Amino acid sequence: MRTAFVTGSAGFIGYHCCKRLLDDGFRVIGLDSLNDYYDVQLKERRQQMLLQSRGFTVDNRKLEDPGCLMQLFQDHRPDIVVHLAAQAGVRYSIDSPKDYVEANLTGTFELLEAARAYPPEHMLLASTSSVYGANTQMPYRETDKVDTQMSFYAATKKANEAMAHSYAHLYHLPITMFRFFTVYGPWGRPDMALFKFTRAILNGDPIDVFNQGDMQRDFTYITDLVHAIRLLIDAVPDTDSPAIEGDSLSPVAPYRIVNIGNSQPVQLIDFIAAIEKATGRQATQNLMPMQPGDVPATWADAELLKKLTGYAPQTELADGVTAFVEWYREYYRV
Ligand SMILES: NC(=O)c1ccc[n+]([C@@H]2O[C@H](COP(=O)([O-])OP(=O)(O)OC[C@H]3O[C@@H](n4cnc5c(N)ncnc54)[C@H](O)[C@@H]3O)[C@@H](O)[C@H]2O)c1
Repeated sequence: MRTAFVTGSAGFIGYHCCKRLLDDGFRVIGLDSLNDYYDVQLKERRQQMLLQSRGFTVDNRKLEDPGCLMQLFQDHRPDIVVHLAAQAGVRYSIDSPKDYVEANLTGTFELLEAARAYPPEHMLLASTSSVYGANTQMPYRETDKVDTQMSFYAATKKANEAMAHSYAHLYHLPITMFRFFTVYGPWGRPDMALFKFTRAILNGDPIDVFNQGDMQRDFTYITDLVHAIRLLIDAVPDTDSPAIEGDSLSPVAPYRIVNIGNSQPVQLIDFIAAIEKATGRQATQNLMPMQPGDVPATWADAELLKKLTGYAPQTELADGVTAFVEWYREYYRV
């Protein structure tokens, strides 16, 4: 039985990822500080559900707690590491940048140090489409230059990519860096648009629509995303492997960056229409200017994911939004 260590296990993506790995027969060690960035009860509920599986154990300390990760790696010697714990969110990084230094920079450093001492077969770390920043050439490719981050959140994730590359090079640690594109679905994050819009629409409150609605996002449904993660676990970067066209594999390290996105950007207006349809209610829209740190559009080139795994995320937006709204109504009894 292989052991997977998953950080951020009580988070939105972490919960779904642990569930999938448990279903696939992994022993899963989770780590999540259950911080109060958003509703702690939601994180506790996700964690309780995972604890119903006999293969799951969890530690509720922080990544950056001295010695925490080193001890967990020493005790469990994970074969696979999926690093999802982070301080996420573009907007919050304007108010509280230090939280991003602690969780994303110090936390990821501690993880890399633990991996250096107890090397896993493969580490997979979450980065974000936000690292593409002010890039205007679409769709975004993993090999594009990414030097124009627009938020401190994105800057810490870009730093994580560089930190991981250096450890992959120096200590021959195979590392895959995911760039996720706006992930959504049941058990989702309360600070993200789908959650906020659904809650407001069902309460009869207005929704804030930024950049006067002129926004595009490449949405990725959670089940598709987790399936892509599962397949990438077995696509271990190897500098000796035959060349793949368009690969982001480093020439000096077993390190690769992979976009996980639908490759089908959606206009914000169409996204709102899908929520209206799923809720059966009309939204009242507050048209607002662009938010600082935000970008008007994201669009993933997902060719590399397809070449590596044969897979392309494919859930239709209407189906994914409906599944979210159904979960939301059941969970909150509205
Ligand atoms: N959801 C998206 O659309 C999206 C897009 C791009 C990138 N990402 C990245 O994917 C990862 C998972 O995102 P998510 O949407 O599941 O977010 P989430 O906030 O739901 O999950 C992160 C989890 O990490 C935990 N955590 C935070 N700081 C910690 C620390 N210092 N020590 C231990 N635990 C800590 C939190 O309690 C939380 O449960 C993050 O790295 C995020 O930056 C997410």
